Amino acid sequence: MEEKELTEVSEASTGAAYAAHWQEEEYIHPKPEFIGQANMTDPDVFRRFSLENFPDCFKEFAEMLDWDQYWHTTLDTSDAPCWKWFVGGKLNASYNCVDRHLAKYKNKTAIHFVPELEEDPIVHITYQDLYKRVNEVAAVLRDFCGLKAGDRVTLHLPMTPELPITMLACARLGVIHSQVFAGFSGQACGDRIWDSGSRVLITIDGYYRGGKLLDHKANADVAVETAGAQGQTVDKVLVWQRHPGQNASAAPMVEGRDYFMNEVLKDYKGAIVEPVSMPAEGILFLMYTSGSTGKPKGAQHSIGGYLAYVTAMSKWIQDIHPEDVYWCMADIGWITGHSFIVYGPLALAASTVIYEGVPTYPDAGRPWRIAEELDVNIFHTAPTTIRMLRKAGPDEPAKYNYKFKHMTTVGEPIEPEVWRWYYNVVGRGQAAIVDTWWQTETGGFLCSTVPALCSMKPGSAGPGVPGIHPVIFDDEGNEVPPGEGRAGNICIRNPWPGLMQTIWKDRDRFVSTYFGKYCKNPDSKDWRDWPYMAGDAAVMSKDGYVRILGRVDDVINVAGHRLGTKEIESAALTVDAVAEAAVIPVKDELKGTVPDLYVSLKPGFEASKELEEKISGAVSAVLGKIARPKRVHIVPDMPKTRSGKIMRRILSAISNKGDVGDVTTLANPDIVESIRVQVQGG
Ligand code: WTA
Repeated sequence: MEEKELTEVSEASTGAAYAAHWQEEEYIHPKPEFIGQANMTDPDVFRRFSLENFPDCFKEFAEMLDWDQYWHTTLDTSDAPCWKWFVGGKLNASYNCVDRHLAKYKNKTAIHFVPELEEDPIVHITYQDLYKRVNEVAAVLRDFCGLKAGDRVTLHLPMTPELPITMLACARLGVIHSQVFAGFSGQACGDRIWDSGSRVLITIDGYYRGGKLLDHKANADVAVETAGAQGQTVDKVLVWQRHPGQNASAAPMVEGRDYFMNEVLKDYKGAIVEPVSMPAEGILFLMYTSGSTGKPKGAQHSIGGYLAYVTAMSKWIQDIHPEDVYWCMADIGWITGHSFIVYGPLALAASTVIYEGVPTYPDAGRPWRIAEELDVNIFHTAPTTIRMLRKAGPDEPAKYNYKFKHMTTVGEPIEPEVWRWYYNVVGRGQAAIVDTWWQTETGGFLCSTVPALCSMKPGSAGPGVPGIHPVIFDDEGNEVPPGEGRAGNICIRNPWPGLMQTIWKDRDRFVSTYFGKYCKNPDSKDWRDWPYMAGDAAVMSKDGYVRILGRVDDVINVAGHRLGTKEIESAALTVDAVAEAAVIPVKDELKGTVPDLYVSLKPGFEASKELEEKISGAVSAVLGKIARPKRVHIVPDMPKTRSGKIMRRILSAISNKGDVGDVTTLANPDIVESIRVQVQGG
């Protein structure tokens, strides 16, 4: 059953240096039992979604939704490259994820909430309960906060049902939600409040992580202050309570600004809020993500196009049926959670699992116990979590009685041997795996196998999903033909409905970041002239399968979380003693990559352990714990070119124990050996 092929992966022409190596290509076929029940088994789908049928093929996605009014134009390119989809159409996302299921599924579980503490009972929220709660929260937002369609609200919520409930309540009103990952600091949250122009912040008093009840409300105070200092006033902070009626936070409630949601809700019991009929091109949410400059950018996603796209992807690629119990272990604070915990699965009337805490709490058997208890049959997680679970409990899955038909990996490249453990041990050699490559900006999947139609290839994401036409360009804009083994910049030839509309308030940055390099004619209104550049290096093999190598820009992928090296460097520079900072991505066995931070000091300051701690602490305070450097190296000087540019390539070679190469042309060649000894020892 297994065919093998060898491909040479040569040094990327993209500037990212990937050593030449041979990679084995092995095909694994999905099992007949899976194929027999799958949603998408029509091999003609790739022809139907070929470029000849573009853009009309995407109507099929939109038809998966309920519309108040049908669209008149499938794709409007007049404001290229800000594509408009399903123009003239009207719909409501909350209606599509909740109300429309009531007739058939009102007593079915919409959300299974699994608290981190194992002794706390699992909460099952039916579609009817969800309907009730979403309506009541929408009433609070509309009548208590005075919010209306187009207003922005910042959410800083962890993994409890209050997060999707609040998102859907916003969507019901056409209010734009901007959810900030709960692990981000108050300061990072405040910057996003300011950028989005939110005057309402919705948070929670606390939540469980690693067995501890964390105080989260304290972050809200920092966030409001940070936003205020930049000129954005927050006049209401709504605070959910992890245990209604008990305050889990030591932070005081500010009179006239802070309100416990559970108190306010008492006045809105049984309220019904009609879903606002929104234009397809209305804005559903903002999701901030890191780029190559210090300032995070707000990816702006539409209502109609986005929802149609994630619904189709959930149906065809995740193979979600209403009777499935689907568990995606990502955080809703990231795009994966928005698209594939909340909007996609709920649009399909699935039961979606929300797990509050750490996958290995209290031990590495926890995910498999949850799967057994809830009868989860579709499982979705990231390579970092798979590596962690494999290390902490390689034999744990076998101890539990669960059966997955389908599994997903997302967020980072997965090593073939990690893929095989996932397939053989977690999936018991039965479940189909999809390795889905995509981005915050793209709304949903770009490359993945269609699970019943394509064979899996460990370590390779797969071909473009139906309707997505990937191409690899070299730096000169020439196409690298499939099978040549040369890496290049992966681009998508065509627009698709899930692609973000723009960067919030920054169209120029949107155009230059994603289209600047390969646009054939900036005045053109023809989509063929505007390939989308993802910012990843990739190789395409003969069969059209794509292997993602990593970012080509200054973005570092830590445990599947995107961080800008410039953001970390700016955070380090907030420490008074620091003169210069450089962040280097270092390979890590569990997290894929982690940041190593080099700093040099201003005159009059001395290196010390305390100062290293202080710098590391400053990065956590500004950005959140996930950005904390693995090590801080206080060096006497940075290796520099004669024109004063920091030679990151050399620092990278030192951190990653590689060859520093020729250093004779540096302004300060002697520094290299002393840094090497400091970092590597001896
Ligand atoms: C990387 C997460 C390899 C890639 C959905 C991309 C991947 C960035 C994969 C986006 C994958 C995502 N294989 N690399 N299957 N999926 N990436 O915006 O570098 O948090 O550009 O979206 O993650 O990260 P983001």
